[in-house]
Amino acid sequence: MGQYGVRIVGTGSYAPPKVLTNHDLEEMVDTSDEWILARTGIKTRHIAADDQPTSSLAYEASLKALEAAGMAPDDIDLIIVATSSPDCIFPNTGCFLQRKLGATNAACFSLEAACSGFVYGFQVASGMLQSGMFENALLVGAEKFSTLLDWTDRTTCILFGDGAGAAVLRRVPSDDNGLLACKLGANGEFAELLGVPAGGTAMPLTHERLDQRLNCLQMKGREVFRLAVNAMVESCESVMADAGISIDQVRWLVPHQANTRIILGVGKRLGIPTERVFMNLDRYGNTSAATIPIALDEIARGELVSKDDYVLLTAFGGGLTWGALLLRW
Ligand code: ACO
Repeated sequence: MGQYGVRIVGTGSYAPPKVLTNHDLEEMVDTSDEWILARTGIKTRHIAADDQPTSSLAYEASLKALEAAGMAPDDIDLIIVATSSPDCIFPNTGCFLQRKLGATNAACFSLEAACSGFVYGFQVASGMLQSGMFENALLVGAEKFSTLLDWTDRTTCILFGDGAGAAVLRRVPSDDNGLLACKLGANGEFAELLGVPAGGTAMPLTHERLDQRLNCLQMKGREVFRLAVNAMVESCESVMADAGISIDQVRWLVPHQANTRIILGVGKRLGIPTERVFMNLDRYGNTSAATIPIALDEIARGELVSKDDYVLLTAFGGGLTWGALLLRW
């Protein structure tokens, strides 16, 4: 352990006002409220307006996180936006967020690790703070997946929603460190299970590819499901072992919110009672990198956590990527 640790000192979240219900989706594709609820646990999701890019969602969440931290935008010297639905290919979404906030002292970048983006970003931000070079980081998970979806594909369009969550991370003395352990993993052999094929350099956009909807998210849901539970359970077990903490001591398991059955499967394998497994995907759907910071903000604002409680985060997503973090709140 070096000289410094890191603590979350403020959280914020934002979901755009427009709500899309399962019944609304029944009008759009061949599906039913019963199927969606039984297979995923999702009831509603939020959809951003046309004039709200990802950085606008990030901005709203960041304002609240800064307010909770009692900080001004120019106190922030590092902005990381975890997103797989950036405003554009470049410049990075962090720069658009910086401009909106007026956070002129911050270095900015975005980080692309799909649904694992916030967990990856937390470790990256912490490393930069603990190096001593940065003092206050704004870490945001923000997504506008509604623009990546094929709204005629019932196997994917029912799953996702738009939203953002933010956390201000502060450099603290090492004896106050709140990041107890972290485990990140990836397996690029599974890259084709989940992603957006066209629009990058491997498959630039053409009219033909647009007609084939290759610019939209594609997922082999069943295979992803099978791999997700194992990867999240193993990551959680690894960080608990590293920190010497047992599952009985964990106040909250905060898993990536993709599917209730995955979440409950992870909770069961870890042996944590369901009432300590945080779930809000019934209201938001899968907001990818935003699910965990939105959940953290709801836990913080709901006063569902006390200082020094252990909070275990775990995520899984496209790449494939996965990971877990054990926090002391
Ligand atoms: N409404 C009605 N029926 C449907 C729908 C729908 N919306 N979607 C699929 N079906 C049908 C299928 O066509 C299939 O019919 P068939 O048996 O006649 O072929 C049947 O329902 C079962 O389909 P499955 O795909 O096997 O259903 P499953 O139980 O696996 O549920 C789901 C699908 C919800 C996608 C699930 O596999 C899942 O959650 N996977 C993991 C997703 C995930 O965690 N992603 C990772 C994070 S996302 C990220 O990183 C961006």
